[in-house]
Amino acid sequence: MIPLPPAGPQADALASRRQGLLATFPVAGAMPAAAQRPAPLHQRSILLDGQLQDWNGAMQEVLSPVQVRQADGTLRAVVLGSYPLTGLPEADQALNAACAAWDKGRGTWPTLPTADRIRCVETFTARLLQRRDAIVRLIVWEIGKSLADAGREFDRTIEYIHATVADLKAMENGNSRFEEVDGTIAQIRRSPLGIVLCMGPFNYPLNETFTTLIPALIMGNVVLFKPPRFGVLLYEPMLEAFRVSFPAGVLNLVYGPAHVVVPHLMASGHVSVLALIGTSKVANALKKAHPKANRLRAVLGLEAKNAAIVLADADLELTVRECLAGALTFNGQRCTALKMLLVHRSIVDDFLQRFCAALESLKIGMPWEPGVMLTPMPDPVRIDYFETVVADAIAQGAQVINPGGGSRCATLYWPAVVYPVRPGMRLYREEQFGPVVPVAAFDDVEEALEYVIGADFGQQVSVFGQDSRQIADLIDPLVNQVCRVNLNCQCQRGPDVFPFTGRRDSAEGTLSVHDGLRAFSIRTMVAAKQGEATRQLLDQIVRNNQSSFLNTHYIF
Ligand code: G3H
Repeated sequence: MIPLPPAGPQADALASRRQGLLATFPVAGAMPAAAQRPAPLHQRSILLDGQLQDWNGAMQEVLSPVQVRQADGTLRAVVLGSYPLTGLPEADQALNAACAAWDKGRGTWPTLPTADRIRCVETFTARLLQRRDAIVRLIVWEIGKSLADAGREFDRTIEYIHATVADLKAMENGNSRFEEVDGTIAQIRRSPLGIVLCMGPFNYPLNETFTTLIPALIMGNVVLFKPPRFGVLLYEPMLEAFRVSFPAGVLNLVYGPAHVVVPHLMASGHVSVLALIGTSKVANALKKAHPKANRLRAVLGLEAKNAAIVLADADLELTVRECLAGALTFNGQRCTALKMLLVHRSIVDDFLQRFCAALESLKIGMPWEPGVMLTPMPDPVRIDYFETVVADAIAQGAQVINPGGGSRCATLYWPAVVYPVRPGMRLYREEQFGPVVPVAAFDDVEEALEYVIGADFGQQVSVFGQDSRQIADLIDPLVNQVCRVNLNCQCQRGPDVFPFTGRRDSAEGTLSVHDGLRAFSIRTMVAAKQGEATRQLLDQIVRNNQSSFLNTHYIF
């Protein structure tokens, strides 16, 4: 058992860590060149019905999580710009534009041949690439993601689009034929569903949003897009690309308070697909707001509380490395982050000592600094929450075991390793989504299994160990609790061609390059009884290129 630090030294450690955090923020007027602060961006237009419409109403100010030190030692948030604070009339305008573009399934976009839709997406992608620098800088400054990770997010998104196009071509070419079964001849393809409401998360504001937006568009749906609460301005550099690449009304932006405009859109009954990366509470409320539940498809990426199960024979060097990255990459603000570490009691002291030592070497700083892993966070309410759940665990007998853990200065928070976390503590079950690392010890692996079985969430799990028999005995029950069992490595979403989903309150539907195309479309067929008249009719339609659905074209 690790000796718990007495109150005095821990209090000193907290104070000195706080000083260190304060010194991490740049000094006003002396911003380093590497910071590449974007020029103030006041977005005064809204993409609606194919036009960038001027907006002269109220604006929502955007503050960066990056703050600057003033001469008097206080911190001041950097103002990045502002965007339209629209309301219900503009949401209705967006909805009307989407309805017109869909036109009961007869609009230009939903009836366009797939090859033409692919060309539009490729045009958009080429323009998106031209704005890489501006978009990456805005990701860095709006959500505090490291420059390296923001660049990776952009590049991963481009790869995702290319992979989606390739998969769609393969799918369409595979469907470009007739099938004959029991006297019926048919062609089976996938058709769009209608109006898709897309809402992405702040932690991957570009990538995760595009993993629903792009398949939704390319399959012929029209989209209402509400940017995340943090990460709105980064879409400004692509508004013109959206405008010129897609027909009017195919993509419409919605701003304004989500709790006002989004239920309103759902209540209209016109939304056919809710694509939301967020919480189960919000998803459930929005689904209930729709008047015809049976008409709504939901594609949801929700909460997770992925556990690491560290067995007695685990390679501790590897395990600590993976658990540290798994729990704390981008401040732990990943849905796939390891949010509970369950360690066999025989090695828990050794594990914790190594984990806390390795944690000391993590770099905390501004997002443009090379090698930085812990950065300023955009949501102050979440930082208050970390303090609340850590205090709750301490009140019930746990300790913060790393020096200065849980120290806070404005938007920076030094990770808190909390041990032993037990049932009844909020950290045991709640998704912390941040730099708090709860650790619990187990004697029998059945206890670890019971933890996963009893969780509200069922996204992924990581198992660390070397004995094939014991690992196999865990795999079989775990694959019926979560959707990915990671062996001796942290949880993660990628590679993006692999299925990404979850059970219980973690997800609805599956997202991957391949599955995304299916999530936003439905199998549809044209069928006829075999016979000479049918043969002639189908032959005429195909030969004379009379239908965009019924054809045998090959997309190169
Ligand atoms: O926030 C959830 C993301 O989908 C996680 O993606 O595992 O690649 O960081 P990642």
